[in-house]
Amino acid sequence: MPQPVVRVVDLWKEYRENGQVVTQALRGANLEAAPGEVLALFGKSGSGKTTLLNMLAGLDRPTRGLIEIDGKNLETLGEAGRTELRRSRLGFVFQFFNLLPTLTAFENVYLTLELAGKLNPDAARAALERVDLKGKENRYPHELSGGEQQRIAIARAIVKEPALILADEPTGNLDTVTGNQVLELLTERCREAAMSLIMVTHTPLACKHADRILKMVDGVITEDEKCS
Ligand SMILES: Nc1ncnc2c1ncn2[C@@H]1O[C@H](COP(=O)(O)OP(=O)(O)O)[C@@H](O)[C@H]1O
Ligand SMILES: [Mg+2]
Repeated sequence: MPQPVVRVVDLWKEYRENGQVVTQALRGANLEAAPGEVLALFGKSGSGKTTLLNMLAGLDRPTRGLIEIDGKNLETLGEAGRTELRRSRLGFVFQFFNLLPTLTAFENVYLTLELAGKLNPDAARAALERVDLKGKENRYPHELSGGEQQRIAIARAIVKEPALILADEPTGNLDTVTGNQVLELLTERCREAAMSLIMVTHTPLACKHADRILKMVDGVITEDEKCS
């Protein structure tokens, strides 16, 4: 197997208040994702899915355990190295889209390229076209439907062709039909550019789109099954 894009070994995360451990959100999670692999992560609310994604993004640090992205140990990269990795190698899609309301569709996508040091407006336009938003580049988020807003977020995630896209309940705020279209678009774009995807989802249709299904229970990944 080629070098995994993500390798997580025995990952623990304890949230503390006044020095006391109040929650063990991750209790020894393990995970590997191959380049271009599409993974769906299931699990009840509170099982630790968002915590895991935050750790993978380098936005928060684990209590112990190893995380490697692209073969790089997040802990030894340091804060500046993690920020650089996040900007250049990772893409994000969230439940509530997280678009900047005062920027147009184009500007939302272009900003993420600028942060990655790639000043290429044509790439931003092409990314919007690939999510079927050609002609709506100059709209503001409030001038677009929920599904269209999530498609801007997908364009923003794919535009820098990151090694890995992390999606936290990307269809959680959409109706079923729109949600399925968004899921299909996201997984298609990932396969097209051989980007890995880890998506937290509740939809039973995920298996149709994913290579593997992971299940998280109480901070541990308990099941790992290949989709046919
Ligand atoms: N910043 C935080 N401080 C304290 N506890 C937290 C924090 N974030 C999450 N938790 C707790 O950690 C557990 C896992 O939460 P989370 O990762 O958000 O689960 P999921 O995304 O699967 O719903 C929950 O019990 C939650 O209340
Ligand atoms: Mg969550």
